[in-house]
Amino acid sequence: MGGGRVKFTVLTLFPDIVEAFFTSSIMAKAVERGLIEYELINIRDFAQDKHRTCDDSPYGGGAGMVLKAEPLAAALDSVGGLDKKVVFPTPSGVPYTQKKAEEYAELDEIVLICGRYEGIDQRIIDLYVDDEVTIGDYVLSSGEVSSLVLIDSVYRLCSGVITQESLEEESFQDNLLEYPHYTRPEVFRGLAVPEILRGGHHAKIEEWRHEKRIEKTKKNRPDLWDLNKSIEKSGGY
Ligand code: ADE
Repeated sequence: MGGGRVKFTVLTLFPDIVEAFFTSSIMAKAVERGLIEYELINIRDFAQDKHRTCDDSPYGGGAGMVLKAEPLAAALDSVGGLDKKVVFPTPSGVPYTQKKAEEYAELDEIVLICGRYEGIDQRIIDLYVDDEVTIGDYVLSSGEVSSLVLIDSVYRLCSGVITQESLEEESFQDNLLEYPHYTRPEVFRGLAVPEILRGGHHAKIEEWRHEKRIEKTKKNRPDLWDLNKSIEKSGGY
């Protein structure tokens, strides 16, 4: 775990939304330290008519507008999209997971297409897109938001962003959710920090945390828990 330096190239109609993320606090530090790189491409700069049109109504009828192929193709060509990993976040994609984030963190560059409206012309997907991914079973109006979710999950895996220890301890390690965390004060609104965490007995703390992870996974993610059981049955990974 812990990839190298990744470049995020983002194709968007709203570069200011994405720019705000890269220039804010922790992200800005990672950019400054050279841990990540980014390039924003305004799709509208590649529109081919005087009104700079980027969308049109769908063939076959139906609601909404579709992002046109020509500006998107020209924008993708400008960044060498045919030779790079092109990812399109969309509610019609395959589920995005931590495993995928780890895979992306090993790449030199990811090109993200931010969709809008009803979607993008299918021929862009056919010609350029390697991965269509969804961040969950709900529909966002903004592909920028889902691209930022992907970027956030990948950049934190790049070496130097956060400690190896935190990466190893976090949720989804072993398909279990995280144990509960506490910090001072010892008692807050009548709720005390569990005794065991104050004792300094490391083996016992580890055991307690493991039990809590199991408890939480069973309660909040029975699907993950069932997956663990079936992996165990088949003799592990
Ligand atoms: N764009 C709009 N909704 C999305 C979703 N659920 N996942 C990824 N991209 C999206």
